[in-house]
Amino acid sequence: MLEPGGPLRGTRVLVTAGPTREALDPVRFVGNRSSGKMGYALAAAARSRGAGVVLISGPTALKPPAGVDLVQVTTAAEMYEAVTARAAASDVVIMAAAVADYAPSAAATQKIHKDQDLMTLTLARTPDIIGELGRRRAGQGKPLLVGFAAETHDVLNQARKKLKEKGVDLIVANDVSRIDAGFEVDTNEVTLVSADGEEKIPLQSKTAVANHVLDRIEAMLPARTPALK
Ligand code: PMT
Repeated sequence: MLEPGGPLRGTRVLVTAGPTREALDPVRFVGNRSSGKMGYALAAAARSRGAGVVLISGPTALKPPAGVDLVQVTTAAEMYEAVTARAAASDVVIMAAAVADYAPSAAATQKIHKDQDLMTLTLARTPDIIGELGRRRAGQGKPLLVGFAAETHDVLNQARKKLKEKGVDLIVANDVSRIDAGFEVDTNEVTLVSADGEEKIPLQSKTAVANHVLDRIEAMLPARTPALK
């Protein structure tokens, strides 16, 4: 691991973490199992390397790491606004959040009652935040964009596809079908997928995985932002 004083020192790093919640009615939502642990570990590790860190977080039970600026959001639309407003001022954006891909097309204004045996929900696509950052950045070297790919099958092929389609620099491929990796648990096993190749990071704590991801980011940074060297 690189010591504080390495390439991340003095940079601005934006990290997203946790789930989003998309309201069905005033008391229910569509959500997912993200605890925020992976994103919070990345934020803490980036801060400890001397970066100024903005952590944009969906609802979690976690205490924010010391010295990090926390921005709390609930929905994918709010996360989109919070990230796109800050991305251009960031050197690195790491999207570890599990952002909803679909949200109810209209939330009921009153609690939905159980007067039907079958109920059909209509869902609409949410904005693809990292895809939008990739488009906005086209032709510029900044910010360095890191996405995750949470998959239950064909994990590496899906990650390679996301690397190209979203126009990002690095994808952290996460097999979330395992019980000891991915959502909620304290450990993770990932593969770093970039244009330069692939590196498997074996099962270890999310803090240790976060440091591997940051090591890779530090190795990619100087070439992209020589002024930060
Ligand atoms: O929070 P934990 O319990 O610690 O779990 C960690 C984790 C499993 C949530 C994390 O390691 C992880 O894999 N995060 C990404 C989850 C995800 O939504 O993956 P995806 O393959 O569906 O999305 C691909 C990328 O696009 C992600 O970087 C995601 O943040 C981003 N995205 C997704 C939807 C959307 N509307 N906009 C986005 O930018």
